[in-house]
Amino acid sequence: MAHIIDGKKISTQIKDELKSRVAGLKEKGICPCLAVIQVGSDPASTVYVNNKKKACAYIGIGSRAYELPEETGEQELLQLIDQLNHDPSVHGILVQLPIPDHMDEQKVIMAISPDKDVDGFHPQNVGALNIGRPGFVSCTPAGIIQLLKRSDISIEGKECVVVGRSNIVGKPVSALLLRENGTVTVCHSRTRRLKEVCQRADILVAAIGRPKFFDDSYVKEGAVVIDVGIHRMDNGKLCGDVDYDKVVSKVAAITPVPGGVGPMTIAMLMNNCVESALYKNQE
Ligand code: GUN
Repeated sequence: MAHIIDGKKISTQIKDELKSRVAGLKEKGICPCLAVIQVGSDPASTVYVNNKKKACAYIGIGSRAYELPEETGEQELLQLIDQLNHDPSVHGILVQLPIPDHMDEQKVIMAISPDKDVDGFHPQNVGALNIGRPGFVSCTPAGIIQLLKRSDISIEGKECVVVGRSNIVGKPVSALLLRENGTVTVCHSRTRRLKEVCQRADILVAAIGRPKFFDDSYVKEGAVVIDVGIHRMDNGKLCGDVDYDKVVSKVAAITPVPGGVGPMTIAMLMNNCVESALYKNQE
């Protein structure tokens, strides 16, 4: 019987731990605060931003929301970021992606001060992760490691296969699994004999971005499967990159969609905000 890794429960545990840490910080006069910037009104982004605000309120983190119109100039956005970089009451700055096409995403990410970059997207934080230095780690990958650790699944020495090489998930989760002493293989759409590589995995991280791509023929008996995908099917239900019903009876543990990796991203974002406020006050 596979262990179903309950991301909702684990993320709530993390948020409750943060809630009591924040209460302690407030007694010392430290009030963690996250600034969230949304440019335009993409409905999916609005949902994500609202969820982030709700999580802040639950934990006791202050949140400031900046809703800029779609036609905002890049310079104006960069000025706002600069102002927030210099505001000592703000500990985290997040620009909800995607941003409109007339803006240079990399330029915007690089404008955020690395010590307020709670998304962990700034090249300084990406570099720090890759050379084992302290810095913010991007939230979904950090959440995946927490799911494994809090489910007592060891990473050390294991064959970890990551399918996907995005900057937000595939690359950083590979770096984190390596940091945890896993033996890591990174695959992508052009990998030859992908199925054979996946069959080797003790831990398979599915982040290919295709609904129900991985069926039971891709997974080894007793493997741990982490599904990063999220897709809306024609019947309105959500599914992941893994064909859950075909895979669940073969594996030792698996994350469901929804309720697996998804809720962890916000929990780790909140964690980064609290760490940022702590760090600022230890300097
Ligand atoms: N859009 C989708 N996921 C994310 C995320 O983790 N951070 C930001 N800033 N934008 C996103």
